Amino acid sequence: MAEKPWDGRFLEKTDKSVEAFTASIAYDRRLYPYDIAGSIAHCRMLAKVGIITDEEASGLVEGLGIIKRELDRGEFIFDDSLEDIHMHVEARLLQVAGKVAQKLHTARSRNDQVALDVRMYLRDETHRTVSLLQMLRKVLVDLADGHQDVVMPGYTHTQRAQPVLFAHHMMAYYEMFTRDQARFSDCLDRINVMPLGAAALAGTTYPIDRAYVAELLDFPRISPNSMDAVSDRDFAMEFLAAASICMVHLSRLSEELVLWSTSEYGFITLSDAFATGSSIMPQKKNPDVPEIVRGKTGRVFGSLVALLTLMKSLPMSYNRDMQEDKEPLFDAADTIKACLSINVQMLPRITVNREIMRKAASVGFLNATDMADYLVNQGMPFRKAHACVGGAVAYALDKGKELDQLTLDELKTFSPLVKADIFDHLTLKVMIDRRQSPGGTATENVARAIAEARKALARPPA
Ligand code: ARG
Repeated sequence: MAEKPWDGRFLEKTDKSVEAFTASIAYDRRLYPYDIAGSIAHCRMLAKVGIITDEEASGLVEGLGIIKRELDRGEFIFDDSLEDIHMHVEARLLQVAGKVAQKLHTARSRNDQVALDVRMYLRDETHRTVSLLQMLRKVLVDLADGHQDVVMPGYTHTQRAQPVLFAHHMMAYYEMFTRDQARFSDCLDRINVMPLGAAALAGTTYPIDRAYVAELLDFPRISPNSMDAVSDRDFAMEFLAAASICMVHLSRLSEELVLWSTSEYGFITLSDAFATGSSIMPQKKNPDVPEIVRGKTGRVFGSLVALLTLMKSLPMSYNRDMQEDKEPLFDAADTIKACLSINVQMLPRITVNREIMRKAASVGFLNATDMADYLVNQGMPFRKAHACVGGAVAYALDKGKELDQLTLDELKTFSPLVKADIFDHLTLKVMIDRRQSPGGTATENVARAIAEARKALARPPA
């Protein structure tokens, strides 16, 4: 059993079961690059203000470098009795650098140390997530751009409603992921605060230089209150909230991909490389990728709820409960990256079945609103026009026809305002292109939205 740095006051050895129960090394070991970078910055600061000598600092920094390489190569030996990554590194430093290692923890506590590590970890993860979102947005714009003339049914209540451009539908997802990216970028601002120097909770009696540590670790600011510094996990909750909302969007997209690739819809075909088969039914081609993305959404929500629940009743300041923040956070960060990345790879390879979409948009009275709009333009109040077209729909249903398949004479029986030009108003192209209100599906609008998105994407992500 390794000696514990804190066992000076203990008369009995820690029970093995307690060591196993309290250890977090199995999962917090992945924080090691941040833990070591943080310790190196701390050493340099201790030397700068004269708490340790320059030679001592060099010895410590060199030793930390050796440990980093051991960890990188997978040669480092872990031991539950050393609890977490912080104590592992410190204990190994004693072996590698000798007695000077006992000075490393001056003016520092594991409470501010772990807060620093988690912030540095999450800063990197957030940057990666933002880059993946930027890629996904580009994929969606490319899909929209490459299919600008494809018409499909737009739905409300999962019922065919009005025709829209497939590109407009893709650009709706572009908007969702643009907001997601902004949320992650915004939360970086609150992740990027340097907590080291708060020590256990109250600050320290040593003349430390926190701004210098912040500068070395590339933090724009330091935490202003030591108690808040060690007990704040808002930044992690924000990340998880942003991740949860982003997963809602990914899950909705996945749901559509699943539906659209059924024989009932047939709107898209997934590439064989992104589908899987059945072990019993030879004919099956299953959309497992979007299904799993949809399925993974729940675990990200679970992580958010776990962290909110973890924090909600904690008295100030640090409490060991907070060790439980890591697994949900790591899991959610891994999950969101995996889901974004697989979509970035899968979406460019879907086949859009334009004829099936067009056909679907031509059946089911998707031009009923346009017939009402036609009557309104001839002077009829909208509510009256609505009722009038409702009657025409009931009549057409009875005849087993679409509105545009009725004769002019048949249509005229519903209103004398109907003229021969009504048929021009009921074609897919005209219906799409008349929807020129800002944000509407008109071809011109969508082309403009695509061009604007391209401009936005040319700017580097935050
Ligand atoms: N493993 C702990 C955590 O993740 C590190 C901080 C421990 N601090 C303490 N006072 N026991 O929160």
